[in-house]
Amino acid sequence: MTKNEKCGKVAVIGLAGQSAFMTTHHFPAPGETVSCSSLFFETGGKGYNQAVACARMGVHTVFIGAVGDDANGESCAAELKKEGIDARLIKKNAPTAYAVITTRSDGENTVAVHGGAAKALTGNDLNRSDIKNALTGCDYLLLQNELSEECLSAAFALAQKMQIPVILNPAPAERIPKELLKECALITPNFGEVKSLAGFTENDTPTEQALKHSLKTLGIKKAAVTMGGKGALLIDGEHSCMIPAFSPGKTIDTTGAGDTFSGALTAFLAKGYPLKEAAERAAVAAGISVTKKGAAGSIPAAKDVEKYLCT
Ligand code: RIB
Repeated sequence: MTKNEKCGKVAVIGLAGQSAFMTTHHFPAPGETVSCSSLFFETGGKGYNQAVACARMGVHTVFIGAVGDDANGESCAAELKKEGIDARLIKKNAPTAYAVITTRSDGENTVAVHGGAAKALTGNDLNRSDIKNALTGCDYLLLQNELSEECLSAAFALAQKMQIPVILNPAPAERIPKELLKECALITPNFGEVKSLAGFTENDTPTEQALKHSLKTLGIKKAAVTMGGKGALLIDGEHSCMIPAFSPGKTIDTTGAGDTFSGALTAFLAKGYPLKEAAERAAVAAGISVTKKGAAGSIPAAKDVEKYLCT
């Protein structure tokens, strides 16, 4: 912890599960089979990865999610414990979430996720007294869109009741109730996700001005839009600025780079950094993460981020 930093406490409610990573020369086209050169498994999920990023940045981290009564659920519990995360895993009668990830030789990826038990988490689960106790004193609640719509809405309602600001990583961008977006202190979409939220098509390339206007119309106060190798665009009402990407080496695997950014950004905000400085630090964390294979496994520790900031 550097001088003047608060310790900070963050809660993440989201998906934790198992991911199978396969490296391929090119992504399969519809109807095509491709051979993969490597296969490995990792505990993942956007919520899980973001909680790991928060914990590795040094803030007290609570993770709330649901898993099945199976070996993958046990792995989630064991990995969260190893990271020092206060994990509240609710057991459901459904398989633990599972993702199949293909990574291309240039580091690009595709992800298909079966939400399983994570999608069975309910508002009633969140309103349990032990869960509310775990949320007490949090600087931020970090959410993604891998929960059921009912659970996501309940998480927002609970945060509002407990006066915890919500940061939403709207990924995937599908079916997010518009009224929730207004409640966010900050959203952290990628460029594709922000276009979808703002009503642009996949082929549109809206200007910064057009994006700002659309977000304002939706009642979104602040956004940190990740734009891959270009960096991140910060939008705060009428103001915007670009945080350049950080690239300490060759890009190996971009899976989880957005999760690293969202988690690290939330952690640095919880430590008391202003948005721009927190985003600069998060960009360094995300830049380091893409130089290694996997998602959670490639998230750096705060000391590695600080090392690059000092040089
Ligand atoms: O953002 C990457 C994550 O999305 C992977 O860890 C995978 O599990 C999916 O949920």
